[in-house]
Amino acid sequence: MPPAAPRDRLGRALHDLRISITDRCNFRCPYCMPSEVFGRDYEFLPHDQILRYEEIARLASVFVGLGVRKLRITGGEPTVRRGLPELVAMLAALRAPDGEPLDLAMTTNGSALRHLSRPLADAGLRRVTVSLDSLDDATFRRMNGIDFPVAKVLDGIDAAVEAGLGPVKVNVVLKRGENDGGILDLARWARDAGHVLRFIEYMDVGTTNGWRLDEVVAAMEVIETIGREWPLEAASPQYTGEVAERWRYADGRGEIGVIASVTRPFCGDCTRARISAEGKLYTCLFSAIGHDLRGPMRAGESDDGLADLVAGLWGARDDRYSERRAAATERPLPKIEMFALGG
Ligand code: GTP
Ligand code: 5AD
Ligand code: SF4
Ligand code: SF4
Repeated sequence: MPPAAPRDRLGRALHDLRISITDRCNFRCPYCMPSEVFGRDYEFLPHDQILRYEEIARLASVFVGLGVRKLRITGGEPTVRRGLPELVAMLAALRAPDGEPLDLAMTTNGSALRHLSRPLADAGLRRVTVSLDSLDDATFRRMNGIDFPVAKVLDGIDAAVEAGLGPVKVNVVLKRGENDGGILDLARWARDAGHVLRFIEYMDVGTTNGWRLDEVVAAMEVIETIGREWPLEAASPQYTGEVAERWRYADGRGEIGVIASVTRPFCGDCTRARISAEGKLYTCLFSAIGHDLRGPMRAGESDDGLADLVAGLWGARDDRYSERRAAATERPLPKIEMFALGG
């Protein structure tokens, strides 16, 4: 018998699984994969160390047996991996024990959505979240590190909506002095287009981005900036453990979200597990250590055996990095890189 839905040491259930399917990305955002570090010679994971699609789907089904109802495909950049619609089809075929389909989403930089939206939607993807830090072409080109034009991402977002993957959520990481001047432009654009805009506080993920607290734009500041132009009202969460705080436009024209992981950490409700491209389980975005699931799986472990392993790891979990950072009582801990976990 597989174990029942496990709870961690702080009583948190396992509800979301974020699956990184590659550590590669075609962008070089300085806050995530700075090109000085991730240059031509950087060694990404070799093919045989990356989980195959069948292995990902098998692990996902084990997690569903333990209570997971939400799957998110991430990277690196997931669209750089070949045959992505095949994986989507495998994940879309999974069902919760009550027969309900799962919430299946993907986070992407949007660069490939023009040609991939339709095949992904046809394969069963339900929605996409696109990372887009600025509408200003020069700023966007600088922030993606490869001079990629913003118009192509905007066109990709249109393609996603056309394919039925909307409403699209758009994630903006704000960095003081870099793109915080574009908050109102982004808000106006998203209101007009019907996208759900979410502002993310720049986090101290990984070890290469040289994070500084004074570069963080606090969520409250964003709410005030937008609220002065278009009044906002706090909205209640759509589900327990929602990462974004939601704010509705008082004039009824949509909503925005803020993800305040620095100024208002939300570890108390954190029901998220992450699997890296090489098949390691991370119980926190800021963990230094992942637990290998690929090894046991390739060594012939049964589904029940894998479920026991995961349930045990989840049961031992006591992560709450962001809350501890906020308390600032401890020295920085070693961490995994963001591009390896996809946020
Ligand atoms: P929805 O299902 O659309 O509500 O997705 P989500 O809110 O989980 O959103 P998404 O995957 O787009 O996450 C947005 C960003 O929030 C991520 O890219 C991270 O930067 C941040 N984030 C998500 N989960 C966590 C978390 O567990 N801890 C911290 N500190 N940040 C997180
Ligand atoms: N802080 C906050 N968000 C980040 N992301 C990447 N690096 C950081 C960081 N240091 C975001 C990306 C994307 C998601 C996968 O994670 O912009 O929206
Ligand atoms: Fe790539 Fe996303 Fe990291 Fe930018 S933030 S380098 S798009 S994985
Ligand atoms: Fe969850 Fe870790 Fe993020 Fe806290 S810091 S919300 S425990 S992933």
